[in-house]
Amino acid sequence: MAGTPLPPLNEEPAFKKLQDYYDANHNKIVIKDLFVNDPKRFSKFSLRLRTPNDGEILLDYSKNRVNDDVWNLLIDLAKSRRVEPARDAMFSGQHINITENRAVLHTALRNRSADAVLVDNKDVMPDVRAELQHMKEFTNKVISGVWRGSTGKQITDVVNIGIGGSDLGPLMVTEALKPYGKGLYSHFVSNIDGTHMAEVLKKVNYETTLFIIASKTFTTQETITNATSAKTWLLEHAKDADAVAKHFVALSTNKEKVTAFGIDSANMFGFWDWVGGRYSLWSAIGLSICLSIGFENFEQLLDGAHYMDNHFKTSPLDKNAPVILALLGVWYSNFYNAETHALLPYDQYLHRFAAYFQQGDMESNGKFVSKSGKPVKYSTGPIVWGEPGTNGQHAFYQLIHQGTRLIPCDFIAPAQTHNPIAGGKHHKILLSNFLAQTEALMAGKTSDEAKQELTKAGLCGNELENLLPHKVFAGNRPTNSIVVKKVSPFTLGALIALYEHKIFVQGIIWDINSFDQWGVELGKQLAKAIEPELDTCVEVSSHDSSTNGLINFLKANWK
Ligand code: F6P
Repeated sequence: MAGTPLPPLNEEPAFKKLQDYYDANHNKIVIKDLFVNDPKRFSKFSLRLRTPNDGEILLDYSKNRVNDDVWNLLIDLAKSRRVEPARDAMFSGQHINITENRAVLHTALRNRSADAVLVDNKDVMPDVRAELQHMKEFTNKVISGVWRGSTGKQITDVVNIGIGGSDLGPLMVTEALKPYGKGLYSHFVSNIDGTHMAEVLKKVNYETTLFIIASKTFTTQETITNATSAKTWLLEHAKDADAVAKHFVALSTNKEKVTAFGIDSANMFGFWDWVGGRYSLWSAIGLSICLSIGFENFEQLLDGAHYMDNHFKTSPLDKNAPVILALLGVWYSNFYNAETHALLPYDQYLHRFAAYFQQGDMESNGKFVSKSGKPVKYSTGPIVWGEPGTNGQHAFYQLIHQGTRLIPCDFIAPAQTHNPIAGGKHHKILLSNFLAQTEALMAGKTSDEAKQELTKAGLCGNELENLLPHKVFAGNRPTNSIVVKKVSPFTLGALIALYEHKIFVQGIIWDINSFDQWGVELGKQLAKAIEPELDTCVEVSSHDSSTNGLINFLKANWK
């Protein structure tokens, strides 16, 4: 990427200005008061994205501890961290993943325009389109029953075997878009814990099951072990080595390993090293999505993401949804010391959304050194978590409302439900809960208001005074609300791309490489060293006393 290296964030003049402003004013920024003082606050701090499909997307970020001064300083920060040139470098195929010397081009996978995308001077779009065509043909064959199992029966169940980015994305999207299902049952096996595989195998019949082995590297221990067990299971039942060709396909960048595993390369769907695992659902890794919702709906998902890519590429910083979300996150992480960020979808179909972005965000921005390899002196990626509302309300919202930590939250809600049961009553209750939560988190309840309520309920004296502090809500808890017309393939594609780009912008501001994941390696290496030690009867003494103690206890107890 062109240009001189960025200074450490905490030494960036625009950051220091924000710090000074925060130190002098943060106690005075009260969201409730900002609304009272500015009747136009909602229109000023919200964005309506007029998509060509499935209605508008509304981003309301007015319920944040942000006034005009803060907002201008945050935009200055984005400019000084050179977010726009960094964005252009990503879209134009520069090797921005510096530790792996790779381009980062998941956006090319959903490039629905006729434009070329160059990686090392080669247009990758012909290959991308050819692979999509391969996926389309295969999907249509399986759904229509042209592709059959080894005994001639139609495929009814698809089992995706993968982990991390080769599991979470397809699983999240398949769940989110269940209403668009074409009739095949989808299953996902990721955990090396044999229970995961065993429980799925109980539900399926070998004659009608297609296994998809999804692994970018085709070396991931969990996936290859699970895939091998699935193959053994199939062969035990089919008693015919040729059955593998009808029941196994692979999604990978590693043709050699796929062939060595025994899957014909004609049954392999490829992608490229410039697709990061956690950004790969748009590639061949999305095959299980295609088989679930049909190829046309998968294309709609790509269209939605492409729409958001264009919005991110062309909108000014202060009207740019991913940039807005990123800057708000930086404001809370780096100034208010918020450690976590909650994703709270008010849509049951989005029940894996937070889990998906746990990897998307935490594997991308969980980094402690800057791009130049120096330890950073500021916090980087937050802990991302969440559950769908209203379940979360009855589990952890107490802490968000009255706990001692500041937890910025994103609420995501569709105006329309796919299941308007009881005349739409459920959905209205759901939406009123979403609205009430963001209002309550912002407004809180003062001591006077609580006192009035208690008095009205007939309490007085000591009883009232003792109860009063427990009934007070400080409020001023920040939330974003993202409202879509409906969770459709298009809007979901746009939503996912929105968060991907938010993560990207934050990585640029923090000056970290959001596209590697070396932190996952150490545990993998140690597990490989421990595994043979579990096979011997000898007491282990080569580790620290805790690890030795655990290993020896397990060995003494597993028979
Ligand atoms: O967890 C580390 C990781 O490398 C992820 O980035 C990736 O999504 C996952 O493992 C699976 O990797 P693969 O697709 O190569 O099996």
